[in-house]
Amino acid sequence: VAIDGPSASGKGAVAVRVSQALGFHCLDSGALYRLVALAGSDTPERTAETMQVEFLDGRIFLSQQDVTDALRDEAVATRASDVARRPGVRTALLQRQRAFRKPPGLVAEGRDMGTVVFPDAELKVFLTATPAVRAQRRYKQLKDKGIDANLHALSRDLEQRDARDAARAVAPLAPAPDALQLDTSERSLDEVVGVILGWCRERKLGGR
Ligand code: C5P
Repeated sequence: VAIDGPSASGKGAVAVRVSQALGFHCLDSGALYRLVALAGSDTPERTAETMQVEFLDGRIFLSQQDVTDALRDEAVATRASDVARRPGVRTALLQRQRAFRKPPGLVAEGRDMGTVVFPDAELKVFLTATPAVRAQRRYKQLKDKGIDANLHALSRDLEQRDARDAARAVAPLAPAPDALQLDTSERSLDEVVGVILGWCRERKLGGR
């Protein structure tokens, strides 16, 4: 199951919940780009290829160090969007992402899951939400984690990051032609998960 969409469209939470309901593995592909950014090397292509990453019980480790909280920083996201423009970084991360596809199945979320990484996914979903709703959600998410945030600056950052993700030459943010689009602006997390699980049932996806 491929779930794509712009920043703060709800992909992360939705993917976790859908994967749990289906009994599938889950891939947060944005974390890989954030990890490359966090590592902060002069040769991000090489970092993307060789960095030592582990996903364990909802925590993310870089060279055995728990970096889960550091990864959520908006400054890291902005740098991630910058390294994500580099074709060599994307190629290096391609195999890493595809390695997550294991039985009984995978829910993968990001920007190019349906278009580039898993073009043969059995279900492709593209989540959208109005810029105002997305900024509000990200603001709340950061505040809940005790991270200081400014709504105005956040909206501006999200807008710039999405514009850059959509305009880049390689694997731009875009729905696959066969993706089902879902506007989450006025839907709760439960409702969005419910709609996607309905689509999964129609396709007989999931062991549960
Ligand atoms: O999803 P998240 O906000 O963590 O992603 C951070 C950045 O990583 C995005 O703004 C985007 O530039 C990049 N990214 C990408 N392709 C993906 C996932 C994330 O280019 N599949």
